[in-house]
Amino acid sequence: MNVIPLAGVIGHPIGHSKSPRLHGHWLRAYGLPGHYIPIDVAPDDLADILETLPKMGFRGVNVTVPHKERALALAGKASARALRIGAANTLTFREGRIEADNTDGIGFIENLKQAGWQADDRPAAILGAGGAARAVVVSLLEEGLPEILISNRTRARAEALKQEFGARLRVVDWARADAMLAEAGTVVNTTSLGMQGNAPLPFTFEHLREDATVTDLVYAPLRTEILRVAATKGCKTVDGLGMLLHQGVPGFERWFGQRPQVDQALRDAVLG
Ligand code: ATR
Repeated sequence: MNVIPLAGVIGHPIGHSKSPRLHGHWLRAYGLPGHYIPIDVAPDDLADILETLPKMGFRGVNVTVPHKERALALAGKASARALRIGAANTLTFREGRIEADNTDGIGFIENLKQAGWQADDRPAAILGAGGAARAVVVSLLEEGLPEILISNRTRARAEALKQEFGARLRVVDWARADAMLAEAGTVVNTTSLGMQGNAPLPFTFEHLREDATVTDLVYAPLRTEILRVAATKGCKTVDGLGMLLHQGVPGFERWFGQRPQVDQALRDAVLG
């Protein structure tokens, strides 16, 4: 029987997810049979839904807030990077079990690399220590950066990351976050500050080095204040949309059988 492959994204709420546009564009661009749909799943229903989806013909799903940690716990198998990050964003249903992966970190790094970034021997500076920061920390450590400076409003969360990921992390007080940028070759905003409807980051960025690469996980708006200031200084700036696009690549390849490209047409389709 020729079954049309299904995939989707589960979250709560799910209305604003850009993943249906992302995968929808790839399905059309490659002329592949398949559907990718957003599914609103209340937390109490997660386990039941994950049992049902494969029976309905789903090959897998992306997972977003608030299910990423629980989805990992429910999986029968997990990749090393999902275990390290402590959350799953990509599930594949194979041979009667759930395989969990986390592609946020490689999405983050691929986005930087596509813009010409290379790991060097200068520290990275990370603003924020929430869920999104974990994937960034893990992937920058894997790239071999010698040191990661991390600053968060709630210092204890940054300290907890240092406890977990070790000696190459250095916690910097939020009051000193602006000053820590003076040391950084790579600067990453992982906080939700600067997002549409939120306050901007409370810094002047006066210490940003002009030879730094600056990226923001926020992609609405695309050009956040930190990226705007960085661009005026001549820094390389990388917006956050690319991370979303790149993190979708491994799931699409597994579910629909084609490794997709991240290009301008995709950006246009997702923004459009
Ligand atoms: P995510 O999974 O997107 O990282 P999160 O775990 O809620 O979401 O983390 C949000 C991040 O934005 C945290 O670093 C948070 O700082 P706290 O740990 O102190 O809460 C940061 N953040 C959110 N609102 C903030 C604000 N008004 N000022 C400073 N940092 C803020």
